[in-house]
Amino acid sequence: MKKRIMVFDTTLRDGEQVPGAKLERRQKLEIAKQLERLKVDIIEAGFPVSSPEDGRAVADVAREITECTVAGLARVTKEDIDACWEAVRWAKRPRIHVFLASSDIHVMKKLRTDKEHALNMAVEMVKYAKGFCEDVEYSTEDASRSDEEYLVRIIDAVIKAGATTVNIPDTVGYAVPEQFGALIRRLRERVPALDNVTLSVHCHNDLGMAVANTLAAVQNGAQQVECTINGIGERAGNASLEEIVMALKTRSEFFGADTGVITQEIYRTSRMVSRLMNIPVQPNKAVVGSNAFAHSSGIHQDGILKDRQTYEIMRPEDIGLTRHEIILTARSGKSALKHKLKELGFDLDEESFHKVLARFINVADRKKEVTADDLRSIVEIELSKVEETFAFSSMQVMCGDATSPLASVELIKKDGTKVRDAALGNGPVDATFACIERLMGKEGKLLEFDLKAVTGGKEALGEAMVRVEINGGVYSGVGASPDVIEASARAYINAFNRYFTGKNI
Ligand code: KIV
Ligand code: ZN
Repeated sequence: MKKRIMVFDTTLRDGEQVPGAKLERRQKLEIAKQLERLKVDIIEAGFPVSSPEDGRAVADVAREITECTVAGLARVTKEDIDACWEAVRWAKRPRIHVFLASSDIHVMKKLRTDKEHALNMAVEMVKYAKGFCEDVEYSTEDASRSDEEYLVRIIDAVIKAGATTVNIPDTVGYAVPEQFGALIRRLRERVPALDNVTLSVHCHNDLGMAVANTLAAVQNGAQQVECTINGIGERAGNASLEEIVMALKTRSEFFGADTGVITQEIYRTSRMVSRLMNIPVQPNKAVVGSNAFAHSSGIHQDGILKDRQTYEIMRPEDIGLTRHEIILTARSGKSALKHKLKELGFDLDEESFHKVLARFINVADRKKEVTADDLRSIVEIELSKVEETFAFSSMQVMCGDATSPLASVELIKKDGTKVRDAALGNGPVDATFACIERLMGKEGKLLEFDLKAVTGGKEALGEAMVRVEINGGVYSGVGASPDVIEASARAYINAFNRYFTGKNI
């Protein structure tokens, strides 16, 4: 019989720690609902003490999510645990996740204390958390670089204090699979009390081994895997949920383990997280990258046409990537659009539908056919928009090798008035961004710029993602249009709107 591995998703906590990826409350809830459809077991919804807004966002998730356990993170202080409980208490299945570092370097240099004191704090605060909540997870931060004797003592002590899950993080992505697997096996052997609780792992990807380390841990007795959609998270990110889940499913005879995840929801979840957090997915990303099921060489294409299994170990349908035929045009009516949106799995309220409809008409007027991927892009971008202090109205650009690029942009302010200006730049995008900055009276430093076609073909919808530093904070933005300069302008405006609403700090 296969072991059932619990999937603990921390996209909304560790993933949200990526600069510029901060979500609004309603966006967090939207992702949480999708994670529930994906059927993860635990959603770590945030770090409630970090800000009152995050506390409220975690509480929203706790109230609305009924199928998954909802966890919040807390350091070993009463203030953190109180804030965490205040947020997760509304959940059908609440969890308080307490953590404290266990490595010498963290305890001595970061916490500036000694290991005995740290151990006592851990025990005391697990007991405190237990006073509120039956389900308490304890994480030994930087476990993979900790002294094993000390790790054994802490784990034993926090279980005695009431922890129901013990998590072993490879916080800085230092472990290698063989070694990490062996550590998990030894901990199981050395701490018999682990048999009565859930043993979890949480691996970071600094050396690109987060998924391999997680799977090695599963082979050696880990029962819960902590991971994020698209592998987002601190620095190089966390172990990627879709890679772990599909590895366990595709190689189930090898691992003898499976999860409860509905894999057909993976692609949609990946897109949603990428859009709402404005973090592009690299094209060659395993499982969900745009090239993950694309075959370019003639030999491979020939093989695929004869039998897909020649070059595909997973079916695109298994992650919910079904190819929908070309669909809508400018003449498609409201009901055709509604029908297609439903088919793609979008259940929009009237207000959202009308926003999507307006943008669809604008795109369809300029593009002969709107494909399923175009429509997905339109919906996700419209729904991820924050309140628009400035909205895009129109633009013209003049460029060429014999002239200085000149952009003229018109924006609509919140009160409905229109503002227009023009600026020169060293290229059409530079001129456009300079013009937007003049109109907004604010400068930004472009940190990242990503432009791609949503589908193949010359008429493809262009999708731009930017990350901009404004007044010391990092804000991301996304935009799409049949015209790539307009897509870039929309993304830049979106990033500034996030700055103006102060929601993406
Ligand atoms: O990476 C880490 O150690 C963490 C803990 C809080 C679990 O994110
Ligand atoms: Zn982490």
